[in-house]
Amino acid sequence: MKIDLLKMVEYGGCSAKIPPKQLEEILKYLPLPQDPNILVDIDTHDDAGVYKINDDLALVLTTDFFPPVCSDPYEFGQIAAANSISDVYAMGGDPVLALNIMMFPASKLPMEVYAEIMKGGFDKASEAGVRIIGGHTIDDITPKYGLAVVGYIHPEKIITNSGAKSGDYLIMTKPIGTGIIMAGQRLGLTSEDDISEAIGLMKQLNKSGAEVMKKYSIKGATDITGFGLAGHALKMAKASSVTITFNMKKVPLIGNTYSLIEDGCIPGASFRNLDFVEEYLYSAPDIDYNLKMIAFDAQTSGGLLMSVHSQMAEAVLKDLHAAGLTSASIIGVVTEFQDKYINLQN
Ligand code: CO
Ligand code: CO
Ligand code: CO
Repeated sequence: MKIDLLKMVEYGGCSAKIPPKQLEEILKYLPLPQDPNILVDIDTHDDAGVYKINDDLALVLTTDFFPPVCSDPYEFGQIAAANSISDVYAMGGDPVLALNIMMFPASKLPMEVYAEIMKGGFDKASEAGVRIIGGHTIDDITPKYGLAVVGYIHPEKIITNSGAKSGDYLIMTKPIGTGIIMAGQRLGLTSEDDISEAIGLMKQLNKSGAEVMKKYSIKGATDITGFGLAGHALKMAKASSVTITFNMKKVPLIGNTYSLIEDGCIPGASFRNLDFVEEYLYSAPDIDYNLKMIAFDAQTSGGLLMSVHSQMAEAVLKDLHAAGLTSASIIGVVTEFQDKYINLQN
């Protein structure tokens, strides 16, 4: 029997996140633990928490899980694992260990589907050098899968949202559009080529991008996932007290993403992300509406957005291309804070 996981969900992948505005409302009432060994906590909305063990070693901790973003269980497992591990790479860490998190409708789906999802997760984890040493499964109506991941990092080499500096260039390592491509797939508008390109990108680890960041001692970065390019950039701009300007025409796109938007393919998550950013957003009066909305597209297992000293940017880009990240592009600049955190230009 061929199972199509996509038929079981309304929102797949990172589009299924709780809207960022609602989440922020709740998070601000949670007491932050006080401990000098906590180097990064939810205060800066970073990709992962960091806890110092000694002067040479800190742990990077993160978890992500979500409902299916594709039809095939094995590919879903790979994408979910790549996405979970990505937050460790985004902080400059080396992922080491992980635990499985699985929700599965055991009475509705054959257990082979469970096994396929897990196998995808294990294979992707081992590609990253991560050992999965346990996990937890509960029965649930829609399947959901992901990992809790632990990585190592040197306490002085953490890459955070607060590391962007005025004058830096912004480099994006993967093209944007997974949310739009998937929304189009539901409507029968996305081509097979575009679907397989998006799946290939979502499966891709952010490992090689992270290696380049370490080589150049880059200080500010995040991965682009459910809150979209502008949503994650907002967290970076706030934490760094800077303004981030994107030249939306320079943002690399997956396949026919632009024309899908033109055909009205804008997922609900995009409007929730726009709602989150809007009060901090300036967009050029002549901005192309389609390009603007691309900035809010929820990415699943998206690329790294790095803030790079302008004089290093060309060398970083060359290394990223050489590492196989052929779409990596300079898509914007960081300036001193000017009234709004995010500025979208054509
Ligand atoms: Co992240
Ligand atoms: Co995450
Ligand atoms: Co980060």
